[in-house]
Amino acid sequence: MHMNMTARTGEEAASAALIVGHGLIGGSLRARLREAAELPVVCIGRRHRELPDYRALDLASETGRAALDELVADLRPRCAVLAHGPSDVTWIDKNEADAAAVHCGVAAIMARSATPVVMISTDNVFSGARGAYRPGDPAEPANGYGRVKARAESIALASRSALVLRVSLVYGWHRPGQRATFAQRCLEAAAEGRPMDAPTDQLFTPIHVRDVSVVTAAVPLWSGRACGRTLSGRAAPGSLPSPAGPSPACPG
Ligand SMILES: NC(=O)c1ccc[n+]([C@@H]2O[C@H](COP(=O)([O-])OP(=O)(O)OC[C@H]3O[C@@H](n4cnc5c(N)ncnc54)[C@H](OP(=O)(O)O)[C@@H]3O)[C@@H](O)[C@H]2O)c1
Repeated sequence: MHMNMTARTGEEAASAALIVGHGLIGGSLRARLREAAELPVVCIGRRHRELPDYRALDLASETGRAALDELVADLRPRCAVLAHGPSDVTWIDKNEADAAAVHCGVAAIMARSATPVVMISTDNVFSGARGAYRPGDPAEPANGYGRVKARAESIALASRSALVLRVSLVYGWHRPGQRATFAQRCLEAAAEGRPMDAPTDQLFTPIHVRDVSVVTAAVPLWSGRACGRTLSGRAAPGSLPSPAGPSPACPG
């Protein structure tokens, strides 16, 4: 399969960035990369969408993952961002093996290809028994979602060209066809004067989807440099050096 995935930047052809997942985070990141650098971006989701350089693949199937493998070999992306589902914690708890097939299968494909990868992960890799977790603390997930993401992290990081970004609860307005965020559902219920059920025993560190995409976009904008590290989602975007400077994830 050949799509028109290259563009000229000055004298050089820039290889495309690949975003696996076109949901809340993937959709926001795609928009940011396209407007920030006119970087060619290829995006993958499950459902059919009328978007340029978008492929619909069901990564829950062997056929879908084989097609991803082929696409990566063909495209040789400068960087891939893994922002795909399944992402519903309740669904994953009931379908852990199916969720693992997608998350671990995709991570393995990317690791084999040696493509620089940013994997969007979660604080669910920790049990939550205490607070103030640091990126180097051992993962000890207490639910299926955390177990699946922790396994996928290990597979991705084994390639030494991956960066894991763990974020907590992402908020922002959803785009058409995407699921509404918890914050949006709260605001809509309040605006309509409707009651809404919400957990009272969970703590999050919310982060706006725009901040996630600003931080994540730094890697493709740095020609895809990343290196076997895990970050938590608290970095202030302004603390990042410019794309021309050294990568914070690659000391030396
Ligand atoms: N949102 C958060 O608060 C949050 C927090 C921490 C970590 N994360 C992680 O960040 C990643 C992205 O989250 P998100 O909130 O952007 O997710 P999302 O809005 O649910 O979007 C998920 C994307 O993955 C695609 N997808 C799901 N199953 C697929 C499959 N079998 N084959 C191909 N594509 C599939 C969906 O495609 P379709 O739309 O076409 O179905 C959608 O484009 C997830 O891995 C999640 O665990 C999210």
